[in-house]
Amino acid sequence: MFKKRHVLSMRDFSREEIDSVLDLASDLEPYAHGKKSNMLSGKILALLFFEPSTRTRMSFETAMKRLGGGVINLGPAEGSSISKGESLADTVRVIGGYADALVIRHPKEGSARLASEFSPVPVLNAGDGAGHHPTQTLLDLYTINKESHLEDLSIALVGDLKYGRTVHSLAYALSLYGADITLVSPPTLRMPDQIKSDLSSKNTKVRETCDLSEVIRNVDVLYMTRIQRERFPDPVEYKKVARSYRITPEYLEGVRDNLIIMHPLPRVDEISPSVDSTKHAMYFKQTFYGVTVRMALLKMLMGDESYEVAELTPKTG
Ligand code: NCD
Repeated sequence: MFKKRHVLSMRDFSREEIDSVLDLASDLEPYAHGKKSNMLSGKILALLFFEPSTRTRMSFETAMKRLGGGVINLGPAEGSSISKGESLADTVRVIGGYADALVIRHPKEGSARLASEFSPVPVLNAGDGAGHHPTQTLLDLYTINKESHLEDLSIALVGDLKYGRTVHSLAYALSLYGADITLVSPPTLRMPDQIKSDLSSKNTKVRETCDLSEVIRNVDVLYMTRIQRERFPDPVEYKKVARSYRITPEYLEGVRDNLIIMHPLPRVDEISPSVDSTKHAMYFKQTFYGVTVRMALLKMLMGDESYEVAELTPKTG
């Protein structure tokens, strides 16, 4: 069902498909911890990052290498033919001839979809401007499923809901699970209308507010995001909203006992480091699950059919 497909937006995924990624990820978790594997031996993944990245780039690289595959990296644009004026389409055509799949992050919305039109191999969207970030969503769902619950979930998406691509993708996926979603943002950084109307057309319960203190005690998951400074046309506008929300241990008083706090990271100042040692902090574990989930995706897209999951994890008893 996955072989050779592109991973561009969560809108292209059914709940069944998402569940199959999460199930495989769970089976592959021992490999993320270092268990040896040659499942992707002989395969090559190309990384094309036109925007800064730590976790996404390095967890894709780790996932590929842990499964025995190789990675090639475009590196900074100044070091490649992009600096000579080569188009994205040509770059993708060329690198698609070297690799078995491409991971692309680009500041322009829609660029991954454009790349997919020219690529002979699967394209994974690792963030296209303020658009989408589907592989982040898959690891977010994996984290929620493992550390909280996807059924009857009550979740608050907090921060920059206008420019934050992780919350755009996550909102679409959550609507497939019937989650109760509260959108918390400054008035100028609300979730785009198009996404809100797509959610309500799927009968998803969505509320909007600027006041986090009102909702923090009534959710299972608090999904914090950074205000996306680099996407503001005017730095003055950024300054006005820069410190809109900040979670501290005191602020967490009265929250649900099993509340988990997630964040795609990097954080700026929206979660105080003193929260890290509380039982609610899940953001570092979340980054680890990025390796597990990306392993599952890479295996589904490039793996040899003969390696069935059942063979990989012999069940005992
Ligand atoms: C996010 C991104 O790039 O959209 N980071 C990530 O991939 N973990 C979030 C962000 O940059 O704020």
